[in-house]
This record gives sequence, structure tokens and C-alpha cells, in this order.
Amino acid sequence: HLVRREDYLAPAYRIRSVDLCFDLEPAKTLVSSRLQIERDPQAAPQPLRLHGEGLTLLRVLANGESVSFRHEDGSLVIDHPPEDASFTLEIRNSCCPEKNTELSGLYTSASGFFTQCEAEGFRRITYFLDRPDVMAVYTVTLRADKAKYPVLLSNGNLVEQGELSGGRHYAKWHDPFPKPSYLFALVAADLVAREQRIRTRNGQEHLLQVFVRRGDLDKTEHAMNSLIASIVWDETRFKLPLDLERFMIVAVEDFNMGAMENKGLNIFNTKFVLASPATATDVDFFGIESVVAHEYFHNWTGNRVTCRDWFQLSLKEGLTVFRDQEFSMDMSGGASARAVRRIEDVRQLRASQFPEDAGPMAHPVRPDSYVAIDNFYTATVYEKGAEVVRMMHTLVGREGFANGMTLYFQRHDGQAVTCDDFAQAIADANPGSALAVRLDTFKRWYAQAGTPTVTARGHYDPETGRYTLTLQQRCAPSPGQPVKQPFVIPVAMGLLSHDGTPLQLQLEGEDASAASAERVLVLEEAEQSWTFVNLGAVPVPSLLRGFSAPVILDDGLSDAERLVLLAHDTDAFNRWEAGQRLALSRLCAAASGQAPAHLDDAFIEAMRAVLRHPTLDASFKELALQLPSEGYVAEQLAVVDPQRIHAVRESMRAQLAQHLHADWMWAWEHHQVREGYQPTVAQAGRRALANLALAMLCLHAQRSADPVWPGRAYQRFKDAGNMTERLGALSALVESHAELAEPALARFHELFQGDALVLDKWFALQARAPEHEGRVFARVKALLKHPDFSLRNPNRARSLLFSLTMFNPAAFHRPDAAGYVFWADRVMEIDAMNPQLAARLARVMDRWRKLAEPYREAARAAIQRVAAKPDLSNDVREIVMRALADD
Ligand code: ARG
Ligand code: ZN
Repeated sequence: HLVRREDYLAPAYRIRSVDLCFDLEPAKTLVSSRLQIERDPQAAPQPLRLHGEGLTLLRVLANGESVSFRHEDGSLVIDHPPEDASFTLEIRNSCCPEKNTELSGLYTSASGFFTQCEAEGFRRITYFLDRPDVMAVYTVTLRADKAKYPVLLSNGNLVEQGELSGGRHYAKWHDPFPKPSYLFALVAADLVAREQRIRTRNGQEHLLQVFVRRGDLDKTEHAMNSLIASIVWDETRFKLPLDLERFMIVAVEDFNMGAMENKGLNIFNTKFVLASPATATDVDFFGIESVVAHEYFHNWTGNRVTCRDWFQLSLKEGLTVFRDQEFSMDMSGGASARAVRRIEDVRQLRASQFPEDAGPMAHPVRPDSYVAIDNFYTATVYEKGAEVVRMMHTLVGREGFANGMTLYFQRHDGQAVTCDDFAQAIADANPGSALAVRLDTFKRWYAQAGTPTVTARGHYDPETGRYTLTLQQRCAPSPGQPVKQPFVIPVAMGLLSHDGTPLQLQLEGEDASAASAERVLVLEEAEQSWTFVNLGAVPVPSLLRGFSAPVILDDGLSDAERLVLLAHDTDAFNRWEAGQRLALSRLCAAASGQAPAHLDDAFIEAMRAVLRHPTLDASFKELALQLPSEGYVAEQLAVVDPQRIHAVRESMRAQLAQHLHADWMWAWEHHQVREGYQPTVAQAGRRALANLALAMLCLHAQRSADPVWPGRAYQRFKDAGNMTERLGALSALVESHAELAEPALARFHELFQGDALVLDKWFALQARAPEHEGRVFARVKALLKHPDFSLRNPNRARSLLFSLTMFNPAAFHRPDAAGYVFWADRVMEIDAMNPQLAARLARVMDRWRKLAEPYREAARAAIQRVAAKPDLSNDVREIVMRALADD
């Protein structure tokens, strides 16, 4: 059953206020709901249809009297509601939180009751108009056993609490802001809180709380600091204040996603709250900072202004990802640290969104249809959506964008709106801007799926000093979209001389005084040319600086030109990119059998120069010295042989380890952090580079039978004062020293037995180990039966299964098809308890059509086997049907 964007109808009934009462029991929770409903005077008389899913209905009263109703595909239909313009509806129903393994709606986890309502979980709690354009004021009373669930929370402000008979207690909460049901939340659990009172600019006092299980309190400092930094940042950068007296974050072990922005009561996966130097890596610390910020920023972009319907999801997600990316960049410090963040974001986009956009699940940033909305919390809606916002930012400038945001809130505060409304506000605040003059064309980014390819070719005339740059764009068809119109593509660019000097850019017909070292060209037709004049030297073009648009760039540059950029580009993103391109062309040539897997001296020397560079940051070096991932290489090839790509990349990695051996030793020695642990960009960069150096030294040791470095790695593993270094050493051993890896893994397990998030790392590390004679795959199968393993907990399931299937192609894609058989079995097994999680796992086969034989046929058979299962969830069915669509 397909939901279509074009079928949107404004609601005929609106719910203005809700009074909810919960009697919480794991096996049977009673919900009483009193709804104040208004009829749209314009709408024709019609039945009232309330969403409901898996509920037991006990009673319905309209204006205090019984009313006839019926059930129709899950909905509760009242054919003749009272004819008054406004009436009350009272509903009593029950649900069963302890059987809720989907983790959508009201469910139990170790410490108590939790909710997850986005997108359509509220209907699994009670009957309601469960759509984001119906906004109501909530008053919520919770009743529960006091000893088991001492903490009772819901959105807004606590208005009353007290004792009840039978060891129970209650709390009553009121949220003054009208909100859609997907932002409702409650928590009833055995938790403790870190608290902090702050005073914001306008002089208002706020209480900030981070709730966790007893014993985890010492791991909440970073989350609290991140929250305070987010509040300060949003006030400063966008003039958006905290509008609540109380802002709560609650951590829960069982959670399908990262976190959820429920008004005033954010609920988080523990992974994005809990951190201590001993148990969390630098990457974890940054993840917490960015997710805390993301959810906090939703309070304005998502909650104060929300989505009219779920097709508009990127309205809040793309914008909020853009905001959290900017926050993380601002928190990182200087220009080069910002560039490192940008590189990481782009790497992520290319690793997840580009393949999505080229595969069977390709959809526009604003999708046109869906079967299961939960399948559309995608890299396209989030990360590409953020790129679309970033392009607007580029086209109107930083200040223009801030003005656009101000206008957006002036116009739409308190409303449920569309992506069009957002783009219109940004354009209207900047009349005559590069965005405003082509807004309709620009908005094709919302409507057309697929990643455009931009081809750039330059011609320099030494006689006249003129350089003509021609840009062409094209975009392959996507499902349902055979032909694409040209996109508006901002191309930030500069020109360098061959000795690396930035050249002044003066366009033909422009005054010399208009010249600058960088500019943004706006490509909006299939082909356009620009001519630069008065160039004194043959230029090397540096295009798409900072990755100014989410496109694939074919710049046709030679190795020599890329080496110039790698050595001299003033744009750190393009400097990194030049090195990646040099590596990528070598990887692809070898993986497609056109060249041996051999790294030439020029490449090795360029990498050595980066590693030894006197001024580049360690974090930049670490990114620049990594070869593109196997997945990224696969995306470049028409036919993919995962085993071959793995072999080629491993061989090149070994060459880097060998030829730069002395340099890696230098890097290891010179990047030790001797100060106390701080999760700063500067320290993290040093640790990352030292870890990479250690991995390379151990890799080389493996090939040269040298026992020294593995011995040092083991020592480091034992002595490390923080998880980043400990895990770095352990992973170096797991990668290249099987004998020492075994005792190290055993010791690690023993040390961290009680810590779920660290055990996740333990499982993940083993599933991500380089495959050798099928041992990794066999180990994953054995780990499934480990007493600490469970498919019920999403983090644990992901630690093993996603690590194998998404990040270890050589272990997963086996010529004997056993990997795919294993995949299909797990998808079906998980689907029976948690369809959202199963659908995510199902997506790892998106790109099966690109596989070489025998993988391709085996993959098809496995997907078909899943598709043939009779009682498949809508979520998984949508994924496998799309995967098989052209069969
Ligand atoms: N809005 C949440 C966030 O972006 C994600 C919620 C995802 N929910 C879902 N059912 N897929 O942080
Ligand atoms: Zn979000």
C-alpha cells in the first residue's frame, strides 16, 4: 500500500488539546485519553478516522455519551461524530509495552518504560490523528510503581506529583507548546540525573538534566557540556533561544536510531550519551557532541516549525543536519580543523548517500511515495538534504542565510510546513541573490533523485593568457525518473600555477579590480563556459572546493596536476581530494585488471611528503594517508568483484606500510599525546595518526615476521590510558597478528564485561577484521551464539551484523554464497521482532546488480528468498521489492 505525496489533504478534524493518563504496567498499560477536537468548518461532513495499531479498545465516549464506531484497517472510525464545531472524545485503551519488540510506541527496556513516536509510533499507544500537521497541547499523568519506576517524565513542565496507594506514585506534566504526536514522549524508569542550572542571554533560568542508569552518572559530563555548548551556539549563530524551563535528555539501551528530539524530553541511544575516556573513543565523543546538538537544534528546526507531512521530512532533517555540521565545525576551531570535519562529512555522504542515489532505493530529498515511512530516514533525506541547505547557504552567503532563517521563523513559527516554504523564506530574505533569481530551478534538488556528474574541461591559450573552463552536467535515470532537468550547481573554484601559486580570477568582460583568488560559478544549464583572462601561467584548476555541491566531478586532471593540488591547494578539502583521486585511479585500474596492484614512486613520495609535512594537522594527515574504502572503490566500477577489490587494496596498503616504514615510525613517535586525555580535535588528530601508524607498522611486521611492533601494540593495548589508544592497538593486532589478538580480545572482554557499549566494540572489531580463509565469517557465526550476543538489542545486532555486511565486503561476499544465506536468515529472523532494524539490514544488498558472478546470482537468490516469505513486514517488503524491481 503506497502513500503518495500528491494525495495530501489537509485534516478535516484538528485536535487542540489532549489529556492523557497512563497506568503503567509492563504487561498491560491502561491509557485514557481525552481529546478536544475541532471540525474544519470548510470541510464536508465526514467520518472521523483515528489511527491505531495493535491496541485493545475499551471505551469511546463523545461529549460524554456513547457513540457508535467501527474498526477499518487498523483505524477507529466514528461515522457520526457530534456535529458541534468542537467536541470532546474520551478513549480508553490498553497496550502491552513488554511485548513491543519493534521499539516503536511505548516499550520496556531494562530500567523501565520509554517511547519512540516518530514517525508513526503514537498510534501504537492510543487512537489519534497521528500526523504531523495535527498539533495539540498535551497534559500527561503517569502512574506507576514507585520502587521500580521512581522517575516519571513527559514533555514540558512538571505540574504535580505525589503518592498513590499500593506503592504507586504519579506525576502530571504539561507542555504549553502545541506539538504533533510524533514529538510526544514519556519515561518511567529507575534513573538518576546529572543536573545543571543555566541562565541564558534573556536572563531566563533553565534546568538541564541528563538521565541515565545508576552507575552511569560519571559518563554524562560530556553530554551535558555538549548540550550547553549547543544552547550557546544556537543563540549566537541563529539568535534561537531555549524556550523551555526544563530540558531533559534520557539515555536508553534499546533504541532503533541515534536519538529523538521529543519536545523538552529528548530520548537517546546510550551510545550518544555515555562517555568516559576509559570506555569511549574520540569518535564516540564527537558523535555525542554532534547528536546532542542535532536533537537540541530540532527544538527550533523541527519542533517550533514542523513538517506538514512525512514527505517533507528533509525540511527538519536536512536543515538540522546542516546546523549540527556547522556547529561541529565551529566547535573544532580553526580553518584546517573545520576542513577536516568537512572531509569527514563528505566521506560519509559518498559512502552512504551516493550508493543510495544510484541504487534501487534512490529517491528525491523530498520523496514522492513510500510504503513504510521508516524506510525514508535515509542518507538522502538527511545528508543530501543538508547539502541542499548548504548550497542555499553558499548562494546567499552566511549573513543572507541567517536573515533567511529569521524570516522563516517569522513566517512559520508554530506551523507545520513544506520544503517549499523553507526555500521561499531563504530566497525572499535575499531578493536578487544567486538563489532568488533561479529558485524554481534550484528546487529541482528536492524533486529529482540521482547524483549529477559534472564534467570539467579547460583550455589555456598561452598566447593570450586566457583560460576557458567548460562545465557539463548529466544525471542518470532513477526509479520513476527517466529524464532529468539540469540542476543548479554552485562550483567553488580557484586556479593554481604549476608551482602552486594561487592565480587571480578575472572573468572576461570584468574589471581587473573584480579579480579574486576564489569564486563560485553557478552551473545551471547542461553546458556552460567561463573564460578567465590575464593569467600569467598555465593554470591547474581546483574545482568544487569544499565540496560545494553533492555531485560527482570528472575533472580530467592528470596525475601531475593532482600532485600540484595535493602539495599546494589552499583549499584543504581539495588537497585531500587530490590525494584520494590519485589513490582511487590506481585502485580502480588494478581492481578492473587494467594494471598491476602497484604503487608507483610518485604516489609514494607524495604520501611521504604529506605525512612528513611540517605544518599540516595530524588529523588531516590521517585522512589523507588512508586509501579510499573498498565500498567507495566498488561504487566507481561497473562490475564489482569484492574479493578482488579487497586483495588490491590490501596489497597497496602493505606497500604503503613498507615504503613508508621509517615515516610511520616517525609518525608514531611524534604523535603520542602525553597530556591528560581531552576529546579535542588537536588531541584526537594525534591519536588517530598514531593509531594509523601503529596499524601500518604491525601490518609491515606481519609481512616481515618482525615481532617488535606487535609486541609494542600489545603493550600499548595493556597500558593505554584511554579507549581510543586501547582500541587502536587492539585493532592493529586483530588486523595483522592473530596470535596476540586472541589473548588481547579475551582480556578486553574480561575488562569490560559489564559495559554494553564497549562490548559492542568488541563484537564489531571481530566482525570487521580482514578476512582470511573464511575465518572472520566463521567467527561471526560463532559470535551469534555468544552469551553476550542478542538480536533484540539494536546496538548489539548492528555491532555484529552491520559490521560484517556493510564494512567487511571480503568476509561477506563469498563465492560459496554463505554470506548471503546468512544475511537472508538474519533479515527474516529480525523482521519477526523489529522490522525497522531488519529493513536497515536488508538494505546492504541494494547494490547487488553491480556484482560480478557468481556473487550476483547468489545475491538475487537470497533476496528472492526473503521476498517470498509470506508474513514479511511492510518495511522489509518495500526494500526487497525495490531491489528486485526490474526482475
Ligand atoms: N528525528 C530523529 C532524529 O533525526 C530520528 C527519528 C527516527 N525515527 C524513525 N522511526 N526512523 O534525530
Ligand atoms: Zn533529526
